[in-house]
Amino acid sequence: MKKIGVLVSGGGTNLQALIDAQKSGVLKSGEIVTVVSNKAGAYALERAKNVGIDAHVILRRDHASKEDFDIALRDYMQSKGVEVVVLAGFLSILGENFLNAYKDKIINIHPSLIPSFCGDGFYGLKVHEAALSYGVKVTGATAHLVNEITDGGKILLQKAVYIEDGDTPEILQKRVMEQAEWIILPQAVEMICAQD
Ligand code: GAR
Repeated sequence: MKKIGVLVSGGGTNLQALIDAQKSGVLKSGEIVTVVSNKAGAYALERAKNVGIDAHVILRRDHASKEDFDIALRDYMQSKGVEVVVLAGFLSILGENFLNAYKDKIINIHPSLIPSFCGDGFYGLKVHEAALSYGVKVTGATAHLVNEITDGGKILLQKAVYIEDGDTPEILQKRVMEQAEWIILPQAVEMICAQD
């Protein structure tokens, strides 16, 4: 069993999907040992505590530089023995100190079909606003490995979701989560945990 560390910033529905996948057996080659948030009030922390998983906050403002913040995140993960890292709605960009420690072992879920609507500045509802204002008829989600290029690492899994008449960014976000993110993220994490 690989030890998994999850980084979050918000509601944590993707974290919940991972917790549920552990219970159902979809995620069987790894176990979540810690959840770390860069936002103090993130509901994702409650989801972790509810099932007895270590929940920890590390704030950017408590560190002198972005590098120091990165190192603190890395050191905390390593102190818990984490081998695979999942970004489940973690809305901060990781730097090289973190990336070098977990090369090809960091998985992100992005709410569009990469390479559309991705890269710096495309996160959360902004992604769905961009898809709707462009007028695409199909969007979706992508689970991918994380490297130094924002949303630029190797694609692991993608799933398409149709846009419907009357969609708002909020309605579309929910459909993309339900029909794509919560399904492919646990599958991608299992793929990486099952390696060697
Ligand atoms: C999810 O839609 C996730 O794909 C997105 O943030 C949301 C977090 O929701 N991530 C990004 O936009 C990363 N660029 P959650 O906290 O309920 O899982």
